[in-house]
Amino acid sequence: MSLVSPRFWDQPGKWPVSEGAVGADRFVSEFVGQLVAHAAADRSAADQTTTDRFRRPTTFGSGGSEPYAQALQSDDNVLYLHGRRHDADPETAASVSTMHAGRWSAGADATDRSLLAVVAGPVLDIGCGPGRMIRAAMNEGLDALGVDVSPTAVRIALAAGLAVLHRSVFDHIPLAGTWATLLLVDGNIGIGGDPDALLERCAALLAPDGVLVVEVHRDPEHDLAYVGTLHDAAGHTSDAFPWAELGVNALCRRAAKAGLTPVAEWSRGGRAFARLARA
Ligand SMILES: C[S@@+](CC[C@H](N)C(=O)[O-])C[C@H]1O[C@@H](n2cnc3c(N)ncnc32)[C@H](O)[C@@H]1O
Repeated sequence: MSLVSPRFWDQPGKWPVSEGAVGADRFVSEFVGQLVAHAAADRSAADQTTTDRFRRPTTFGSGGSEPYAQALQSDDNVLYLHGRRHDADPETAASVSTMHAGRWSAGADATDRSLLAVVAGPVLDIGCGPGRMIRAAMNEGLDALGVDVSPTAVRIALAAGLAVLHRSVFDHIPLAGTWATLLLVDGNIGIGGDPDALLERCAALLAPDGVLVVEVHRDPEHDLAYVGTLHDAAGHTSDAFPWAELGVNALCRRAAKAGLTPVAEWSRGGRAFARLARA
């Protein structure tokens, strides 16, 4: 059973928190109890959404005509990520990469699932989208929670019965310092456009013996921060948002500054990954 079964998500009073629990039961109770408190806080935070839009940086694919939200709700869901370095000449053409958003709404594939076969729970999926990795973790018998800033992604994940928090990874996250596994997959090392800040945040969330799984760019030396905009074929365009891409060597150099060190690097299914732990 998932420790954070959304069956209880909207009924805080019904969470099975028992006062006299010991050992693993006690851990379960504390885990669940803290999530209940955060779920309640989350509801009042939802009222802040409008205010937040005006004081927070734009995030992946949000704003404008919301192509990311549109893609998550449609079958015609190829997206184009346009990127331009902060210091680029305005005349320089933006780089364009194609993103198959259908992957985010589909189930985890064999490569996704293989990431979870060698890790422990609880798992925190950072930028979980509609939650395919949370579902896959649960199928592996791991407790898993997602966090995402996209209201549409969070709504889809909750409707599918998954446990997610609607907030930024840089906001308050329950059980900080105790997560056994953190996931940054499918380009999510780009979150915030400042990999050093994100890696530092991950180091603070990880348990002392925890691991951070990062999907990296296939060029090991690639190290690029840029301003992105997301586009779809129908002409929907997002606001500009900060994003970044790192290859494995660049990731390892930056991770060292956050006190993290690589314990594994590998490629599978045309994708590249690294697993990091505390140095
Ligand atoms: C490229 S999508 C990846 C979706 C998902 N990881 C997957 O593989 O299916 C990036 C996700 O990161 C989320 N995101 C962007 N900034 C975030 C932040 N500061 N905190 C949490 N999630 C964030 C976006 O809303 C979006 O759902």
